[in-house]
Amino acid sequence: MLNAKKETLKKQFHLETKSPLFRQALDFCERVADSQANVLLTGESGCGKSTTANVMCGLQTVTSGHVMFKGQDVTHRNAKDRMRIGRVVSVVFQDPATALNARMSVQDQLMDPLIVHSLGNKEERIRRTYELIDMVGLPKSALNALPGQLSGGQRQRVAIARALSLKPDAIIADEPTSALDVSVRAQILNLLSDLKKELGLSMVFISHDIQTVRYVSDEIIVMNHGTIVEHGEAKQVLNNPQDPYTRLLLGAAPSLLHPTAAECAPIA
Ligand SMILES: Nc1ncnc2c1ncn2[C@@H]1O[C@H](COP(=O)(O)OP(=O)(O)OP(=O)(O)O)[C@@H](O)[C@H]1O
Ligand SMILES: [Mg+2]
Repeated sequence: MLNAKKETLKKQFHLETKSPLFRQALDFCERVADSQANVLLTGESGCGKSTTANVMCGLQTVTSGHVMFKGQDVTHRNAKDRMRIGRVVSVVFQDPATALNARMSVQDQLMDPLIVHSLGNKEERIRRTYELIDMVGLPKSALNALPGQLSGGQRQRVAIARALSLKPDAIIADEPTSALDVSVRAQILNLLSDLKKELGLSMVFISHDIQTVRYVSDEIIVMNHGTIVEHGEAKQVLNNPQDPYTRLLLGAAPSLLHPTAAECAPIA
């Protein structure tokens, strides 16, 4: 589906000095959206994970290289391309509070993508909002709420429902749990993982928290300074990391869901 041609894709940011701040070679995406696997894109803060996602879904343009969609070059996508890609690839962002419109009811937000894409009549759209809210485990009454009347976890569920509204083939979830309370992170990850299975979605998790997301990932891609340093099956990357940076990352990150004995030991 969406992919970036190997070794040719670069994104440069210029500060006011016009010096290149960051350059990244995005050399992985070929398998991401095509695969039925849950893919985890990880690496430390600032390594380029969000930039990669933004380039893929067209929120940012590349400095050089090409982004392909179903075999077609969509690097400089027009409005028509955007509509076409928007129907099959959805994004869930880190902070549901900013991803949702604070003044629109949940129901209106869920209907909005359907209206933009001229799908169904009013009744069908309303019916779809009932289906969506049910899929993400919220009661129907949540449809009348404004985002500010919901908890962080509930808001992220609404954002996920919205991402599902057009029945996409793939979801890119950029740090979907890092703005949430620790207690609801696992619920949201499990929800995404269950939906992936139920709906046959391709899922890309972006997270710096390798230890938490590892439990819902089949494949792991590790980035460092804008470059992929390791890519493989989750088991293999976790149990036998080849790159020194991956080893460092695994050693540095404590697991929230399954802490090791050492992490549980009382502090002397
Ligand atoms: N609009 C921008 N202008 C200038 N530099 C930017 C811009 N967006 C990102 N960068 C820089 O590009 C690099 C990668 O940023 P990016 O947001 O992709 O990192 P990330 O891996 O998603 O980090 P995090 O885990 O903190 O979300 C950083 O060094 C950042 O400062
Ligand atoms: Mg980011």
